[in-house]
Amino acid sequence: MRENHTIENQPMENTAPATAAAAATAGTVATQVVLPGVVEPDGLQVRHVAVPAPGQGEVLLAMEATGVSFAEQQMRRGKYYDQPPFPFVPGYDLVGRVAATGEGVDPALAGRRFAALTKTGGWASHVVVAAADLVEVPDSVSSADAETLVVNGITAWQMLHRTAEVDAGDTIVVLGANGGVGSALVQLARFAGVRVIGTASRRHHDRLRALGVTPVDYRDPDLYGRLRGLAPQGVAAVFDHVGGEGVVDSFRLLAPGGTLVSYGTASTRDAAGSSKAPVLKLFARLALWNALPNSRHAHFFNIWAGRRRLDAFRARLGADLGQVFALLAEGRLEPQVAARIPLSRAADAMRLAESGTVAGKVVLVPDEVREEAREEAREEAREGTREGARDGQSGR
Ligand SMILES: NC(=O)c1ccc[n+]([C@@H]2O[C@H](COP(=O)([O-])OP(=O)(O)OC[C@H]3O[C@@H](n4cnc5c(N)ncnc54)[C@H](OP(=O)(O)O)[C@@H]3O)[C@@H](O)[C@H]2O)c1
Repeated sequence: MRENHTIENQPMENTAPATAAAAATAGTVATQVVLPGVVEPDGLQVRHVAVPAPGQGEVLLAMEATGVSFAEQQMRRGKYYDQPPFPFVPGYDLVGRVAATGEGVDPALAGRRFAALTKTGGWASHVVVAAADLVEVPDSVSSADAETLVVNGITAWQMLHRTAEVDAGDTIVVLGANGGVGSALVQLARFAGVRVIGTASRRHHDRLRALGVTPVDYRDPDLYGRLRGLAPQGVAAVFDHVGGEGVVDSFRLLAPGGTLVSYGTASTRDAAGSSKAPVLKLFARLALWNALPNSRHAHFFNIWAGRRRLDAFRARLGADLGQVFALLAEGRLEPQVAARIPLSRAADAMRLAESGTVAGKVVLVPDEVREEAREEAREEAREGTREGARDGQSGR
């Protein structure tokens, strides 16, 4: 990963702060990770820029946790459906503390901790977001734990309760049940009294069983035969992020009245060609199935749908993430942090997330945390040496 030490933009210490917000952030340098084009993880760049000042209706968040989502794995391949042109700062979501408030924002927000869904821009030490997009994180929940359930928790909650509208006693199939979205989905479903059949690699089966899920290996050549065997009457919903030809089999698993919730095309992440073609083909298929008189439903879930009515969108998102955070605070949802890695080592984080060897979300934390941790480790080592010397002197 290339470290770019130039400080872009004029550092704010050289300018007279024009607003209270600018004054609060003056003199601070922000770290950002940049995706410059279609690159391997090593091609990610680290740059240092002047900390941005929040404008009207905005706050500046000092990032405490952000993370690697599947979206960034697609974006670095140029495969995310509507990614911005390169170069850009990726980062689908973050948890941070309000470091400064812009005009028109309640100054009492300063110092409080919030989550925000950003799609891009989260892989930075300081991020400006609209105050209306903030969702408060309960005090008892750590930033890393909360981070695992921002995009994942909203997606899982909304697909389960708003799109599929499952009821207690229903049976559902969740593909990729150990993934970020998948593990949130299965836990929320179990909490709602739903029976869950989940596909995952074998190494994740024990954990899935512990969550009350019936696991099936997605590499089984007769995967759909096995799934049908477990629910011969059909299921109330199938959650499919894989796409491709398998989506036909997912639809066939449904009982009358059941709903296919398609929400990704993970199977084409590494395929050559257009990023839009597999999605458009999927949309066409779902539209056709919905039009047929077969009493089954097929939807594509898009977390950004409905943004044209921004107030309603924000209210929904805030309410749903609030419910997820409340369950997290009550200990009813188990967050899965695969690793905490300093922001400037985002390349390592990306490689780890893509390795398929870890369970849960790879979380990026501020670089200072690493420095603090190192200092603590040094202090512990010094303390240990001192104790060792004392023990030696006292003959213990
Ligand atoms: N539409 C939306 O609004 C929206 C929002 C959020 C996320 N998403 C989508 O949700 C998906 C999951 O995201 P994430 O961040 O949760 O990813 P993640 O943590 O990397 O999890 C991906 C999961 O998929 C499994 N998997 C990979 N290939 C598979 C296959 N062929 N069949 C079945 N499972 C397979 C993986 O299993 P192993 O670890 O065993 O390989 C893993 O459990 C992505 O496609 C993402 O784009 C969509």
